[in-house]
Amino acid sequence: MARNSQINDQAAGPTLAPIAFAIGVAVVLAGLIVNLEVIAPVGVAIAVLAAVAWIRGTGRRSRTSAEQKSHEPVATETERFPRNRFLERATLGLGGLVAAGVALPVIGAAVLPIFSGDKRLPIDLGPISAFPQGEFAAATFLSDPKAGEISRRTAYVRNNGFVGTSPSFTIMSSRCTHVGCPTQPNGPIFMQREKFVRTSVGEVKVVPALPAGGFGCPCHGSVFDTEGNRTAGPAPRALDRYQFSIRNGRLVLGPIYSISRVDGSGGNARIHSYKRLGDGEPATGPESLLYPVDPIS
Ligand code: FES
Repeated sequence: MARNSQINDQAAGPTLAPIAFAIGVAVVLAGLIVNLEVIAPVGVAIAVLAAVAWIRGTGRRSRTSAEQKSHEPVATETERFPRNRFLERATLGLGGLVAAGVALPVIGAAVLPIFSGDKRLPIDLGPISAFPQGEFAAATFLSDPKAGEISRRTAYVRNNGFVGTSPSFTIMSSRCTHVGCPTQPNGPIFMQREKFVRTSVGEVKVVPALPAGGFGCPCHGSVFDTEGNRTAGPAPRALDRYQFSIRNGRLVLGPIYSISRVDGSGGNARIHSYKRLGDGEPATGPESLLYPVDPIS
């Protein structure tokens, strides 16, 4: 009996597949935080390959065990289901449940936004005549009319005139890139010229301004110049900007994107752009590597 047990143990043999599987899951979780495009898929590949090897190894061991048993005298109930095998399977089962409980919510939170996408509609700011050339105006609108006031945003809009045959606008988010406080124009705001423009997303309030000193954040003192470049304070990058298009003579906002800095000004500015980043996240430099992938609404 002792010899049969020894043969069984040898047939089962140690396998690295569970360890490789655990490493794969760990790489997936790290990838969800650090790099969704490269590291997470590598982790998935490791986990899948290890899982296949693990399952095949388990099947082979089971067959070997069954073949050996067919040549053995009939075992007692205790011998066929030894306690260590029960404990092994119970541990694996519980471990799998715990891993699923930890991993599934994380994977769901990271992956579902990719499929849900940005459902927000383009934002109609009204006719371009509402934005006189060469002037800044603060346009306040609902970015998601169904969500109501919580989606109210302000963009600084400047009509740069034409570049070639294309109209050019500088459209910056008023949201400070430090922790998201609303910035204010550093200069006069002409409330007497305030107007409300009817658009397909509701009323847009347009207030002309002369931000000679750029834009300032009241929370922690960040300052941005008239192109949105940070000139002082803790903000890690320039003000985010909106993509835009002109449709039937109306100015329509598209998605927001982030920028590290702007060289030059107006329609001829060179914009160093990035996908939209989170509050406090630098666009360049070593610190930008430390920030996790964040689902930005
Ligand atoms: S939120 Fe603007 S400086 Fe902190």
